[in-house]
Amino acid sequence: MTFLSKLLATLAASIASATMLLASAATAHELRLGLITPPNHIWTKAAEDFGADLAEATDGAHTVTVFPAQQLGSEAEMMQQLQTGALDMAFLTVAEVSNRVPDFGAFYAPYLANDIGHAGRILQSDLAARMLEDLPAKAGVVGIGYGMAGLRQIVSKGEVQTAADLKGKKLRITPFKPILDFYNLLGAAPTPMPLPAVYDALANGQVNAIDMDAELIWKLKYFEQADTVIVSNHMMFPMVGLVSAKVWKDMSEEDRATITELMKKRLDECIATYIVKDQEWLDEVRGTDTAFIDVGPEFFGDVPAEWDKIWSEQSGVLGEMRDAAAASAE
Ligand code: BEZ
Repeated sequence: MTFLSKLLATLAASIASATMLLASAATAHELRLGLITPPNHIWTKAAEDFGADLAEATDGAHTVTVFPAQQLGSEAEMMQQLQTGALDMAFLTVAEVSNRVPDFGAFYAPYLANDIGHAGRILQSDLAARMLEDLPAKAGVVGIGYGMAGLRQIVSKGEVQTAADLKGKKLRITPFKPILDFYNLLGAAPTPMPLPAVYDALANGQVNAIDMDAELIWKLKYFEQADTVIVSNHMMFPMVGLVSAKVWKDMSEEDRATITELMKKRLDECIATYIVKDQEWLDEVRGTDTAFIDVGPEFFGDVPAEWDKIWSEQSGVLGEMRDAAAASAE
């Protein structure tokens, strides 16, 4: 080997190792994951467990810092941050996604799910998986999988016996259109408000009823600020694990596969937890002095059918969603 060819070989080897070093530096990530739920909430715990799993699986090359309780902003703001790549990941309500991609409104069809187990099966349907595929093009995010919270109930100040008792009531809703339409059809005065603001609003009378799930009615003691809990189970409440499409684009295939597997595992676990616990939390509230009424679709009169009329225009998949729900009913 001549001196020149030795020099060239040494140079090539140095360039190759420098390139490898740069590549591994570029793929090492300190990822940030935002969500609106409080620190001890099941979604927050799922996010933290996912972070721990990812750090372990990658020998610390990828770490996840979880920002709960709206520390990074509202869900709408986090969605924007995901779109620009300022935020890497989030666990968001499907409600927020439906504000950008109205097809997702179909998940909120009244009485789509017969019970909490059925809600879990709807989220595992082929249709639900197919809808995630639209997210990069329509919302600039990659949907990894679904989680959920419990079915929706109503907590109200004052006695409630019929839906007429809710007419004109300032009733807190999560800020998204499908539920706004539902309560407008009912004649209530729906008041959009993010989760962290709800307790004070109910306590100080800014609203006199709330749309909420059993877990938080019990754990955040909303029932103490009310007189009647209406167990209606009127809607399911899915969550979705998202990664910024901008961040995803620069990840290796291997990293994408690891993140998908580990995040999905924790999201599936979240669904399984609610299936077991939703009824237990309701039973806890039943054991208190707050009055309880158990109602079904008939309580809402023609509101569910009217809602379907509006949403069959807004969501292109409502019919398919009702079919997927019928196919997974027991
Ligand atoms: C809500 O807006 O009611 C809500 C949001 C996230 C988790 C649970 C409930």
